[in-house]
Amino acid sequence: SRSVARRVLPWPLEINSDRLLRRIRELGLIGRNSATGGITRTGFSATDREGRDYLINEARVAGLVSRVDAAGNILIGMADGQGQRPTLVMGSHIDTVVNGGRLDGAYGVLAALEVLQVCAESDFHGSCELMAVAFANEEGALFPQPFFGSMVVSGRLADLPAEPQDHHGHSLREPLKQVGGDLATLDGAVWPAGSVAAYLELHIEQGPVLEHGGHQIGVVDAITGRCILTVEIHGTAAHAGTTPMDARHDAVTAACRVVLAVESLSRDRQVCRVSTVGRIDVHPNSPNTIAGVVRLTADLRDTDSKRLSEAETAIRDTMASLAEQTGTEITVVSRVRSAPVSTSAELRTSIRQSAAELGFDHITLPSGAGHDAQMVAGVAPIAMIFVPSRAGVSHCPEEETDADHLMAGAQVLLRTAIHIAEL
Ligand code: GLV
Ligand code: MN
Ligand code: MN
Ligand code: MN
Repeated sequence: SRSVARRVLPWPLEINSDRLLRRIRELGLIGRNSATGGITRTGFSATDREGRDYLINEARVAGLVSRVDAAGNILIGMADGQGQRPTLVMGSHIDTVVNGGRLDGAYGVLAALEVLQVCAESDFHGSCELMAVAFANEEGALFPQPFFGSMVVSGRLADLPAEPQDHHGHSLREPLKQVGGDLATLDGAVWPAGSVAAYLELHIEQGPVLEHGGHQIGVVDAITGRCILTVEIHGTAAHAGTTPMDARHDAVTAACRVVLAVESLSRDRQVCRVSTVGRIDVHPNSPNTIAGVVRLTADLRDTDSKRLSEAETAIRDTMASLAEQTGTEITVVSRVRSAPVSTSAELRTSIRQSAAELGFDHITLPSGAGHDAQMVAGVAPIAMIFVPSRAGVSHCPEEETDADHLMAGAQVLLRTAIHIAEL
């Protein structure tokens, strides 16, 4: 309540850098492949569960309380939290891509945990409840429903398949239960309109802009829109030696045409900004069998909603004619769409003010990567804080950020949270 918020703060509240860096290191060992150095904690996998257990245990040891909602999101609050509204939510995700880095997502979650712990330790209670969140399956690397957890909290249930499946056809039902979620009660996880005062996501930039300019902090003004399609190409499996070339319905060669068409959308036709096929499964994947089925993903991105729609229509049209030409059946079996969004101008101002007070150099930039924040934007004002990525790379083992930059971002998150919660 407001009277409590007027208490004089024990400034400066400080991020405990040893603690935050230790947690980044420890979580970064879970799902790590020692040969490549890459981390694989795909959403709802066994390593993801290990990471989730780690986070929940760290929160418990810190004297905080966790719960898991029906979507499998981990929500961490103060032990004496009253569940009073409104809530200031901070977080990101701890699932990863296949062979990714240790910071994408995890940094924002662990920094949010650290902010909560610092506030709890200094007995800071503002006008908002503080909450840290680890959203389930942001990457969609195993289950092709990226942003799963943040879509659920923002009430986009109708945009999710009734029976989500992974790339191998396994239902989400059991894996979701194993982490404490429940597909049957997802609507109970939706955040009521007005209940969240603000959502802050701290994240590595995953691109080269901050490092090139020598800036410590990025204030995100807009997040790219995405359209993610999972496509199945059904041909006819047959003998590679006996089937004449003109009697084939080869799913692999049809898939190759689809792959090039997706690339061409951006490279040649410039219908949308970037477009990628990053995953291909071939069945039966046997050297002397013409492939019967190929499943692939197409990831289309643009900051303009209309262009994104045009790109989706264009690739669907192209796939229809490629099906004709190749004698295969090409169908979109899963589709996730995230609209391009703008961040809150008010929250951006608050972040800039915090960065300035801390003496950090900052610029404003858009995000070409997708983030849970863009889903949460449907139910709450959002903002994002970026820190530099070494060599601008991400979604690979080389993803890294200097410790002082990690600390700067966490300090800005802490200070911004307090500014907001103090109001
Ligand atoms: C999602 O994490 C993306 O930007 O690829
Ligand atoms: Mn990512
Ligand atoms: Mn991320
Ligand atoms: Mn992302």
